[in-house]
Amino acid sequence: KKVVLAYSGGLDTSAIVPWLKENYGCEVVAFVADVGQGEEELQGVEEKALASGASECHIVDLKAELVSDYIYPTLQSGAIYEGTYLLGTSMARPIIAKAQVEIARKVGADALSHGCTGKGNDQVRFESCFAALAPDLEVIAPWREWSLSSRESLLDYLAERNIPCAASATKIYSRDANAWHISHEGGELEDPWNQPSEQVWTWTASPEQAPDEAELVSVQIEAGQVVAVNGQNLSPYHCLLTLNEIAAKHGVGRIDIVENRLVGMKSRGCYETPGGTVMVAALQAIDELVLDKASRKWKETVANEFAHLVYDGRWFTPLKDSLLAAAQSLAQVASGEVVLKLYKGQVSAVQKRSVNSLYSEAFATFGEDDVYDQSHAEGFIRLFSLSSRIAALNKQKSVK
Ligand code: ARG
Ligand code: SIN
Repeated sequence: KKVVLAYSGGLDTSAIVPWLKENYGCEVVAFVADVGQGEEELQGVEEKALASGASECHIVDLKAELVSDYIYPTLQSGAIYEGTYLLGTSMARPIIAKAQVEIARKVGADALSHGCTGKGNDQVRFESCFAALAPDLEVIAPWREWSLSSRESLLDYLAERNIPCAASATKIYSRDANAWHISHEGGELEDPWNQPSEQVWTWTASPEQAPDEAELVSVQIEAGQVVAVNGQNLSPYHCLLTLNEIAAKHGVGRIDIVENRLVGMKSRGCYETPGGTVMVAALQAIDELVLDKASRKWKETVANEFAHLVYDGRWFTPLKDSLLAAAQSLAQVASGEVVLKLYKGQVSAVQKRSVNSLYSEAFATFGEDDVYDQSHAEGFIRLFSLSSRIAALNKQKSVK
């Protein structure tokens, strides 16, 4: 029997390798997804996997595809979960699952395994994607089976088997990083009355420490996609890298929220999404110009449905195709240029223009104009409020 494990090099997945071999009598192939978590995490990961007892280790670079095929479509839809979360972990799960299945096919594996706990969203996301892409493969989720419930017991488990592990017994936070974001959960954050300490944040500057000078950045958008930054045409991945660097320096993109997990409980998380926060602000600024009232209302619905779909791990479904078609249709007019001002944790769109803009100064001005006849508004209001008038007249009659 052969299992492909989504391996990160951290303590949990290091222990899962020997655990699978002992409990399932199988060969374990390690699969590492490079989603932009950074050099530090990827450093020596293959050696680690082999030292843990994996027979092979496959590292797959998914960074560019993550941004262009998962993050950009999600951005186009306007999806934001529960009003604030930019879905960084959620968007990475389907591409990781897909690449893991591809490795499983390549090596002829019978099963897939992951290191998600039985209390979180990620198990649901991985396994829903596995179900859609490889219904024939068995899924093994050690966290739902074993009795190794603390970092100490995992470290002991590895020590007993002489497996080297650099992890310490006192890692405070559970973090998940990729090109788009870093999430932080656990430690003192588990009490929502505790403010996040400065050591929670690992990427963005603290707004208090950020430069005293504001910085302007210009973003070019075509059909709901960021295509250039400061006049430079770049791939989606490189647009993100460029904006990440500028925004992180100004402390932009921190949020601290309590969210509803799919599995019922609420959890508290801090998230850093520097470049993404700028992209979202730029796309919203263009929508302000180009979408009429009814289209904008429809987009809010599409965005909200898309956010739940991504959060809930339902990427490989007909619903995704349908919602994405709606989002892409709405995005046809979303082209233009936005200048954003970054200053001490804040981003605001201070200049915006689009060839598809519906904004007309001639119509909107508070000054004198000769295109909008104010007397037309009277008839509009009488008909717009007609049903209210009729209902009120009825009430007056019945009182008499
Ligand atoms: N709560 C966020 C989400 O569900 C972040 C999850 C972080 N995952 C992790 N394995 N540390 O998308
Ligand atoms: C986990 O429980 O494995 C991470 C958190 C989550 O999936 O929500």
